[in-house]
Amino acid sequence: MSGKLNRESRYALLHGRDVSVIIETPPGAPPIWRYWGPRLPDAAPPFDSHDARPTPPFSLDADQPLTVFPTFGAGWFHQSALLAHREGRDFAQAFTSAQIERREGALKIALEDRVAGIGVAISIALNAASDVLTVSTSLTNCGAAPLDILWLAAATLPLPAGPARIRYFTGRHNREFEACEDTLTHALWRRDNRRGITSHDAFPGAVALIGAAAADEGIVYSAQLAWSGNHTQTIERIDDGRRQWQLGEWLAPGEVRLAAGETLQAPDVLVTCSVQGSNGAAQNFHRAVRRRMTWPDGAMRPRPVHLNTWEAVYFNHRLDELKSLADEAARIGVERFVLDDGWFKGRDNDRTSLGDWTPDRAKYPAGLRPLADHVIARGMEFGLWLEPEMVSPDSDLYRAHPEWALQIQERPLLTGRHQLVLDLTRAEVADHLFGVIDKLLSSLPVSYLKWDHNRDLTLAGDRSGRAAYHRQVVAAYALIARLRTAHPRVEIEACAGGGGRSDAGILQHTHRIWASDCLDAAIRLSVQRGFLQFLPPEVMGSHIGAAPAHSTGRAHSLELRAAVAATGHFGLELDIRSLESNDRRELEGWIAFYKASRDLIHGGDVWLGEAGDSVFWQAHGSPESLLLFAYRVEAAADSFPPTLCLPMLEETMTYHVQIVQGWNRRGWITGGALFQALAGEGAPFSGAWLKRSGLPLPPMMAGSAAVFSVKAQ
Ligand code: GLA
Repeated sequence: MSGKLNRESRYALLHGRDVSVIIETPPGAPPIWRYWGPRLPDAAPPFDSHDARPTPPFSLDADQPLTVFPTFGAGWFHQSALLAHREGRDFAQAFTSAQIERREGALKIALEDRVAGIGVAISIALNAASDVLTVSTSLTNCGAAPLDILWLAAATLPLPAGPARIRYFTGRHNREFEACEDTLTHALWRRDNRRGITSHDAFPGAVALIGAAAADEGIVYSAQLAWSGNHTQTIERIDDGRRQWQLGEWLAPGEVRLAAGETLQAPDVLVTCSVQGSNGAAQNFHRAVRRRMTWPDGAMRPRPVHLNTWEAVYFNHRLDELKSLADEAARIGVERFVLDDGWFKGRDNDRTSLGDWTPDRAKYPAGLRPLADHVIARGMEFGLWLEPEMVSPDSDLYRAHPEWALQIQERPLLTGRHQLVLDLTRAEVADHLFGVIDKLLSSLPVSYLKWDHNRDLTLAGDRSGRAAYHRQVVAAYALIARLRTAHPRVEIEACAGGGGRSDAGILQHTHRIWASDCLDAAIRLSVQRGFLQFLPPEVMGSHIGAAPAHSTGRAHSLELRAAVAATGHFGLELDIRSLESNDRRELEGWIAFYKASRDLIHGGDVWLGEAGDSVFWQAHGSPESLLLFAYRVEAAADSFPPTLCLPMLEETMTYHVQIVQGWNRRGWITGGALFQALAGEGAPFSGAWLKRSGLPLPPMMAGSAAVFSVKAQ
């Protein structure tokens, strides 16, 4: 890349709703990130401050501004967007030509390094409605000899100079999306995932809070990789004080060797700049992810109420019991009955049978048809659990094809949950799975699959002994796509021991993500708040479980469990036949509430907030019409309840506020006439008051919740 910028350089301006991006396109050289932040006037004049930037002492004579694909060979001292070599040579890439095609809201960039023999294609598109940039990068080996790739940044993004924090999400099975925050310093910030699937412990994205940015104010940059496999993200301070943020796929040694002419497509990166804090970033992502999803018949139907059998019966399937569970489910308003693990040949525990996808004859003497028909006759859809990518060593499939498991010769097989992973990169394996699932879907009235993946990948070697992580993800996507083409009306839920496959990549192929196996309402609330930072509520599987919760042993009120579950794609996962009549009535009330509210809960924006003294809140809808969920998980520490400020409201408007659901323990009604009015017909409030002083909250018991409707008058 030539150092001094050419005076004829031009600037590509991408304007969104609240943000603008300016990328300089110097002739023949990689485009340069010049500006990405709050919206500029339409005809913001190109500026040339960087032309004039003085050469610092002891630096290269050629300036090194941050490009969309910085490379080592151009003199970039920070992490290169590409780490690659050809038998140890061609390690220092620098582009010898660049072609830019400008389209409405998008740039297509073609870079070539004729010396190292590589081509890079990058598309950067700004969706004006969501303010989300989608960056898509591919690398082609244009040389004659194979090219080994160690790292290909799916995007290299600029972050401003100055104080900033990075919020990221870790976790484990039963406790996904635990928010952590680091201050960005001179040290390299890095997160890796080498578990082969998205993972419970490293969500492939983060939120950069600039300066004092908070939930509803300030500038926030947020990125996520649309990918269900290994990943890495790094943030590194660069010489001008800004930072470069790279996201991409973590590649195992030797994993990607491109033959002459071959291309490696990096996963898409979705990235946004919000001028309204982290909630603004979440809202932008929700819009962008919605645009990327594909639904049967072209549009999402109202999300049906689920009953999932897992925590109700586990492996103990008895046809008469399941039928009576279905009867009760239909009676209380369930719309989809999902038969979870335990239905197939010999599957009495988790040590056996994955791969043998035929109904267990002892449990289902006439197959699944009688249960499916029973469910459908009661007006519900019938869904089925599968874990197609897995095989149990104790299965007919493994006995017939031990070579189908991912493995490395002479290394011991490492089981996880007593199971192995099938090598989907083998065409015969993918064909076999397609055949088995196609047969199930063709022979039974199954309109929904819960597609599980209950272990991390280890020793993911293919037949030739090379790492196959990347190709395994591509093959899983392809298998699901093939099944959806053959059965376009079927919806699919992605699950990996709960939320181990929560990402925007799998959502291009599926319609729901099971966010966690943990149904403890307090933990679930925190899991869901993390999930909602990146992905929209309508795809977030969210069930009411039993009390005490099976995962923690802690009991929560039905009110809290239901109010937490109602903010996602709502369902039940308990033996509803054992409920006492009061709980049953209350549950019916929540189901009716969810059905009446799901358009608002799923179709609008989401705001997450904290009122203080351990009261969390969540609002869904639009500033004109909101459903506001207030949760008190712990007992109050203060004598008086906090107020709840609603930042999205218009100060000059009047709002009608009413409690529409929850808050069963109504001891607080003695708290005054205002609360009596809120629980009755509702009361008017000025927007300014609700925004600045806040909605007065009555005293709430630990483990209670209330839902308010807030409507502009
Ligand atoms: C995983 C899922 C659960 C359930 C079990 C069945 O743990 O997350 O919801 O389907 O598998 O074995």
